[in-house]
Amino acid sequence: MPAQDIYRRLPRFPDDFVWGVATSAFQIEGAPTLDGKGPSIWDTFCRQPGAIADGSNGDVACEHVRRWQADLDLIAELGVDAYRFSVSWPRVRPGGTGAWNSKGMDFYERLVDGLLARGIKPYLTLNHWDLPDELQQQGGWANRDTVHRFVEYAQGITRRLGDRVASITTHNEPWVIAVLGHETGIFAPGIKNRATAMQATHHLLLSHGLALQALRADGHATRLGIVLNLSPMHSATDAPEDIEKTRLEDGRLLRWYMDPLFNGTYPQDVVEFLGDDAPRVQSGDMAAITTPMDFLGVNYYSRSVISAQGPWDVNSSGREVTDMGWEVYPEGLTELLVRMHRDYPVPPLYVTENGGAFKDNLQDGRVHDHQRRDYIARHISAVADAMEQGVHMEGYMVWSLLDNFEWASGFEKRFGIVHVDYTTQQRTLKDSALWYRDFLLQHKAMRQHRASVPVAGVSSQHNAVAS
Ligand code: FCB
Repeated sequence: MPAQDIYRRLPRFPDDFVWGVATSAFQIEGAPTLDGKGPSIWDTFCRQPGAIADGSNGDVACEHVRRWQADLDLIAELGVDAYRFSVSWPRVRPGGTGAWNSKGMDFYERLVDGLLARGIKPYLTLNHWDLPDELQQQGGWANRDTVHRFVEYAQGITRRLGDRVASITTHNEPWVIAVLGHETGIFAPGIKNRATAMQATHHLLLSHGLALQALRADGHATRLGIVLNLSPMHSATDAPEDIEKTRLEDGRLLRWYMDPLFNGTYPQDVVEFLGDDAPRVQSGDMAAITTPMDFLGVNYYSRSVISAQGPWDVNSSGREVTDMGWEVYPEGLTELLVRMHRDYPVPPLYVTENGGAFKDNLQDGRVHDHQRRDYIARHISAVADAMEQGVHMEGYMVWSLLDNFEWASGFEKRFGIVHVDYTTQQRTLKDSALWYRDFLLQHKAMRQHRASVPVAGVSSQHNAVAS
């Protein structure tokens, strides 16, 4: 589908649909010790030899802490409704417990006010992976005590910023924290122990539920939710062993999070598979985890194809593959959203991350990243398809605003719709950003047109679907 075809889908999106761009603190901020910030597990992990592909770290990244005003101007220039960002826990409470760092808090206060002054809704994430290193010294997410430290952190941030942000996400992608961080160990904190990983997932989910309860008890009206990384799982063949493995992998990625959040139980087949590595659950934990949410965010990049023989060859499908080695599979997003809506009593859904890493070439002030532009357009179209099938979607956010520190891949992989020259820190809008800006202008024009031609008794949502 050529990128311009997406314009035909515009009427599917209601007036109040939220278009955004996303980043996270560790990936863009830099300034790891400025004004009293403490080390996070990612600061520490980057120093392990071989942990990061290009040997880099987050010390400078996009220098966002210094350049935040210009970056907010850039966001405003794109014409988005929302900016999804995360707070660095060790910047606001360096040890994860004990004294709060008012200078760190001030930074996020200025950021939020700066967004509001530019007419952009702040979508705040509390935990995008950069746990204070001091908490890791006590066992990190594998230690039940961290649950309570997180609840305090959530309360502290919400007390300060809750009246001005559009939403608060507790955790970004608990699967990644637990499995990549504690089972395969390719992400911080670099632990390789399945039982530890599964205990960490339980504590992440528990801290999410308890934080929601605490914030509501404190009287905050902010919309609260969580963000999961999910993919449809497809079996490589019809062989029973492939199908069985696919079901297990689906259990470990999707049902392990969706079942407790919405049904209050861990999936029994996965619990049995884990055996002694299954998490220890205390009475009352599952009830806390099912605390109702106001929204659920989904980060989608690709599908997963499962073979019992070992890793599936991504080139075997003949489809385009991104620079991460991820297959471009937009219809998987529709399939996923429809399934979530069908199988679970979900609140309104957001695509909180979606985008592609591609090799970019900056020449004469332009980056002709047509693969990224088409990737985004095709996935937006996939969201429209899900909405046509009855899924209640409230927003879509591109990953990412800026090229940034892509975790274990360092700076080698570029996801930004804005190019960052890491030597000069110059920002350049890529063609994908120019296209997104134009697309959003068209949506804005449609909103205005609808406002000027009111249809009696029909809400904007219905109006949108009746194209
Ligand atoms: C997601 C992360 C995000 C970014 C993208 C590419 O898993 O949430 O920070 O790294 O992948």
